[in-house]
Amino acid sequence: MYEPGKLRVVERPIPEPGPGQVRIRVESCGICHTDAATILGVYSGLTLPRVPGHEVVGRVEALGDGVTRWKVGQRVGVGLIAGEDGVCDSCRRGDSVNCQNPVSSGVTADGGYAEMMIAEARALASVPDELTSVEAAPLLCTGVTTYNALRNAGLRGGDLVAVQGIGGLGHLGVQFARHMGFRTVAIGRGGEKEKLAKELGAHVYIDAAAENAAEALQRMGGARAILASGTSGDAMAQLLSGLSARGKLIVVGAPEDPIQLSALPLIFGGRSIYGSLTGTPIDSEDTLAFSVLQNIRPMIETFPLEKAADAYACMMEGKARFRVVLVTRAGTAQKPTAK
Ligand SMILES: NC(=O)c1ccc[n+]([C@@H]2O[C@H](COP(=O)([O-])OP(=O)(O)OC[C@H]3O[C@@H](n4cnc5c(N)ncnc54)[C@H](OP(=O)(O)O)[C@@H]3O)[C@@H](O)[C@H]2O)c1
Ligand SMILES: [Zn+2]
Ligand SMILES: [Zn+2]
Repeated sequence: MYEPGKLRVVERPIPEPGPGQVRIRVESCGICHTDAATILGVYSGLTLPRVPGHEVVGRVEALGDGVTRWKVGQRVGVGLIAGEDGVCDSCRRGDSVNCQNPVSSGVTADGGYAEMMIAEARALASVPDELTSVEAAPLLCTGVTTYNALRNAGLRGGDLVAVQGIGGLGHLGVQFARHMGFRTVAIGRGGEKEKLAKELGAHVYIDAAAENAAEALQRMGGARAILASGTSGDAMAQLLSGLSARGKLIVVGAPEDPIQLSALPLIFGGRSIYGSLTGTPIDSEDTLAFSVLQNIRPMIETFPLEKAADAYACMMEGKARFRVVLVTRAGTAQKPTAK
């Protein structure tokens, strides 16, 4: 029986992949804050019951008809947008991440809080040997989301870039911003995360609980971009006046409350605000490759799959430093991969 907000361990028959699909023996799956929308039963288009999870890494163990690109035994990853329909206007314009009718892991199809998962072959990303499965998993959503948002923002080396909300997304956003060559500011609440944020690569840490973050950014000349990854619309709205002229507030966090903005900083200074949705499988491969190139790794805490409910609670209570990753029996059996 399904109860909103409750995760339960269930036994199911082993599923067979259909045409164009593969079965993956899951090794690890990160817990993204977006999973809350599945677990609470509020994600648009969700059908229940559902296995959550869209930061999945494992090995291909069965191929459906017509799958030629992937081999049994190959290590692969799956993110949130896990199969575009190929026929909607967005797809026809080559914008498959904004497909209007996608397969979404953990929403329209069962995800990775499981020993095995059926995935569309076209949704797979190849995982490089340099990354262990627990390291790679968060890069399939939290990683590609922040990496894509930053690399597509039209920024230049040396620009002042702030990352707001130092959680799963934010802690990778800080690392990507630093390694892309930006003057990197981390904005969190409280002094407790300052040391970690600086270890992750932030040049400056702003404690938004102690000072006005927008004013602090203006004292540094104003941010060319702020990657807003927190779960508060009110906190995002307060940052708008911290942008430089032509600065961009890039919304990746999905708060429940509205973002209420004054029009004036938008008009005077040509500032803008827009959203960015995760990425495609090839964007995920780029994220994994950049992480190997720059030695970027998520900071993780692992839980066995059976403890998914405790792991989810850890994330929801804001206690994770910084990403909780579930490890299956197959994942536990893996030897660490060479760095
Ligand atoms: N755009 C996309 O494609 C995409 C992809 C993945 C996730 N998301 C969304 O991004 C958001 C973050 O996901 P996550 O997995 O990183 O979550 P998370 O690990 O739980 O981190 C969320 C962070 O939000 C900040 N926060 C929480 N309450 C706040 C408040 N009242 N005011 C200001 N900041 C607050 C906290 O940072 P501090 O303690 O440092 O302030 C917290 O660490 C979620 O809404 C999720 O659904 C979007
Ligand atoms: Zn996610
Ligand atoms: Zn489409």
